[in-house]
Amino acid sequence: MGIEDNNKSGLKEKSGKVEKELIPIYVMGKRYLVPEGLTIMKAMEYAGFQYIWGCGCRGGICGACGTVYRKPKDYHIYVGLACQTIAEPDMYLAQIPFYPANRAICNFAEVRAEPEELFKLYPEIFRCLACNSCTKACPMEVPVMDVISAVKQGNIARAAELSFSCIQCGLCTSRCLGELPQYHIAQLARRIYGSKITPRDKHLMEMVEAVKSGKYQAALEELMKYDLPQLKSTYRSRETEPEMAGEDWTPKNRNLL
Ligand code: SF4
Ligand code: SF4
Ligand code: FES
Repeated sequence: MGIEDNNKSGLKEKSGKVEKELIPIYVMGKRYLVPEGLTIMKAMEYAGFQYIWGCGCRGGICGACGTVYRKPKDYHIYVGLACQTIAEPDMYLAQIPFYPANRAICNFAEVRAEPEELFKLYPEIFRCLACNSCTKACPMEVPVMDVISAVKQGNIARAAELSFSCIQCGLCTSRCLGELPQYHIAQLARRIYGSKITPRDKHLMEMVEAVKSGKYQAALEELMKYDLPQLKSTYRSRETEPEMAGEDWTPKNRNLL
């Protein structure tokens, strides 16, 4: 990121017909004037920062833009996503685009769907003090402490379900008294649940078997003979599901089902 004090002297910014108040914010201790109503991310860009790290989706999904801040006359440390949190006057902030949390290395194929596997890989789970700071920090409203409690109780399915909305921003970990990497623990619980506990879908397994049996081999070989224009035209002219199709809709050509 480049740092430059834009040092605007006026109190308002005119863009087109819109006139906006400028408010002071402090980025890593340095004062900038930015138009009110911007997210922290946009305010930082207005101030001259260029994101080459710590910014991904800009929509609260990727978890890349964790930010720590304080407000004037307030002892609290707040955390949030830079792309979702509105900048406030005299806010002091710093972005933490990466948090060096412990991520256990394992051969996932050998990990059993047993709580003991999580305990072995993350023994710090039992350092949890049930302070709930992690839950308060989470911008996705994941009940983080309950996720950790579920793991401690050996309930991998519950931990996976409760942490479904996690975007791996690391803000919970940054506030943890027990120094737990909650989001890595929860991710492992979800991976175990998804690949080793959830029953395999019957339809999917049938399709996998159909592929393995060579059912689609001739069609694939035929497609491989096509040049690019033929491929494009075949793709565009394919039969697609109508918008108002009923649940029992199937294509007229059922050879590839
Ligand atoms: S659980 Fe932690 S890593 Fe996941 S979204 Fe919430 S604060 Fe971010
Ligand atoms: S912040 Fe850490 S110690 Fe506190 S409840 Fe969450 S996991 Fe436990
Ligand atoms: S940039 Fe993706 S969550 Fe903020």
